[in-house]
Amino acid sequence: MDFKIRAAEKEDCKDISRMIMELAVYEKMSEQVKISHEELERDGFSQNPFFECLVAEVTDEHKSKEGFKVVGYALYFYTYSTWKGRTVYLEDLYVMPEFRGNGIGKGLLSKVAEVGKKKQCVRLQLSVLNWNTPTQDFYAAKGAQDLTASEGWHFIRFDGQNLDNLANEAPKS
Ligand SMILES: CC(C)(COP(=O)(O)OP(=O)(O)OC[C@H]1O[C@@H](n2cnc3c(N)ncnc32)[C@H](O)[C@@H]1OP(=O)(O)O)[C@@H](O)C(=O)NCCC(=O)NCCS
Repeated sequence: MDFKIRAAEKEDCKDISRMIMELAVYEKMSEQVKISHEELERDGFSQNPFFECLVAEVTDEHKSKEGFKVVGYALYFYTYSTWKGRTVYLEDLYVMPEFRGNGIGKGLLSKVAEVGKKKQCVRLQLSVLNWNTPTQDFYAAKGAQDLTASEGWHFIRFDGQNLDNLANEAPKS
């Protein structure tokens, strides 16, 4: 199947938003999705973007049952390791079910690696749910290590009231 991978544009935010929800449904946590396509436009396509995104687009003849041509995406941003330096963090990788198995996921993942390498990143990191073994296998087949298994890291978050409380306790100086 012919497809191309390109940098997302502001106009792609409706498609990205749709696929963010599809991925969240797959991950059985759709009720947690609060982001709007307007927020994605603001956060990814303003002067100091918080993320970058690649999309996979198929030709007219291969478009989805519902008429979509943008059928996959990889959303990533940059972070930093005090041990190793520049790191690219892959937040989302998704290919619509009817387009899987055509090399699109691998194409998106490789392209993020290439973009990261061009920016001198030495690591590509991501997290994946413990039951999502098909995707864990997909990453492992490409050479990824599972750091929870090998090093015991936990994934920690502050949000909502806990984040507010923490921020409110900041020393005033
Ligand atoms: C993971 C995902 C992006 C892969 O996309 P895809 O387009 O189906 O994958 P590809 O067709 O590019 O597969 C590329 C390679 O991985 C292999 N592969 C695909 N799924 C695999 C699996 N479950 N286990 C092992 N290898 C797998 C393919 O055989 C292929 O190998 P090859 O290069 O030797 O031919 C897609 O399945 C998906 O969207 N899954 C649901 C969402 C998800 O879990 N996202 C990640 C959240 S962290």
